[in-house]
Amino acid sequence: MLRVESDPVETITTMSQKPNIAFVTGGYSGEAEISYKSAATIEKNLDTEKYNVYKIDITPQGWFYTDKHKEKIAVKRDDFSLVFDGNKIKFDAVLIGIHGTPGEDGKLQGYFDMVGLPYTSCDAATSALTMNKRYTVAVAAFSGINVATSMHLFKDNPVSPEDVLAKLSLPVFVKPNSGGSSIGMSKVTKPGQLGEALEKAFKEDSQVLVEEFIEGREFTIGVFRSKGEITVLPMTEVRSKKEFFDFEAKYHGMSEETTPALVDEAIAEKVRAAARKVYEVFNCRGVVRIDFIYNEAKGQPFMLEINTVPGQSEASIIPQQVKAMGWKLGDFYSALVEDALGRR
Ligand SMILES: Nc1ncnc2c1ncn2[C@@H]1O[C@H](COP(=O)(O)OP(=O)(O)O)[C@@H](O)[C@H]1O
Ligand SMILES: [Mg+2]
Repeated sequence: MLRVESDPVETITTMSQKPNIAFVTGGYSGEAEISYKSAATIEKNLDTEKYNVYKIDITPQGWFYTDKHKEKIAVKRDDFSLVFDGNKIKFDAVLIGIHGTPGEDGKLQGYFDMVGLPYTSCDAATSALTMNKRYTVAVAAFSGINVATSMHLFKDNPVSPEDVLAKLSLPVFVKPNSGGSSIGMSKVTKPGQLGEALEKAFKEDSQVLVEEFIEGREFTIGVFRSKGEITVLPMTEVRSKKEFFDFEAKYHGMSEETTPALVDEAIAEKVRAAARKVYEVFNCRGVVRIDFIYNEAKGQPFMLEINTVPGQSEASIIPQQVKAMGWKLGDFYSALVEDALGRR
């Protein structure tokens, strides 16, 4: 017979009026470094008058909370609780601040669903789907959102550069299909460059997306839900000093970002409408950031991808957009946390 031991320690959730919030950071991918940058802004602005916040570092070596004695306390994974100083801390909601796996691809979301904890991001299915760029554009296109013509390639089913060029017109973008931060991505303008670009992308991922180039101005736009209402943030225009918005452009100041974008209201309205529709179609939760290129000739925005855990470093786009809306970052993070608490 299975014997279930009761916890020897007291549960303190009911002792405090404030909800206990687990703020998860880190992650298992190269994007962990960016998660820690986001964490600095979130920690600085999250309202500790309203919430008891416990920062938990999710690393390949373990899941840890660091207490005031600088001691690392491992999370109990059967219910995502902390036991220390003779107390057991149970959480009311999780604020997800992990870029890349396992915080942006549905893995932690599935785990939190299983232990019954609400969280601030999209659900497991939407997180997993949007991590796959090709599946994302496929679902978007089905709902009438414009996307680039593309091909989905798999490592174990090789396709020659000639076959790709027979189906797509240059220039094309070659991207690792589940990548982030533009790592392993190339813009190909000449047929002779395609083989090398495919090789580079396959080094990062077993699936590659080859997309026709969309000409136009690039906009990226945050959308979030609070109290059941969807809010579209003021959008940002991104202009890269490099050939495209690559890793250097993103993280080494090689891009120019204008928030709010200086753009005709008619164009802005089309991008906002597309962003809201994407949020609804993908049944998003929390804050997401959607990348678009506005093509003048077609008079339409084309969606590139959806970021379900967008960067929150002080210089990141979402904090810029929140400030442009006239909100304090603390109030914005509270709105996300309240939305999760509402799903308890
Ligand atoms: N089909 C495309 N047409 C034009 N520019 C593109 C296209 N795909 C990507 N880009 C450029 O490359 C950048 C990175 O691509 P994106 O799909 O957003 O991947 P990441 O996850 O790396 O941000 C975009 O911000 C844009 O500047
Ligand atoms: Mg992007």
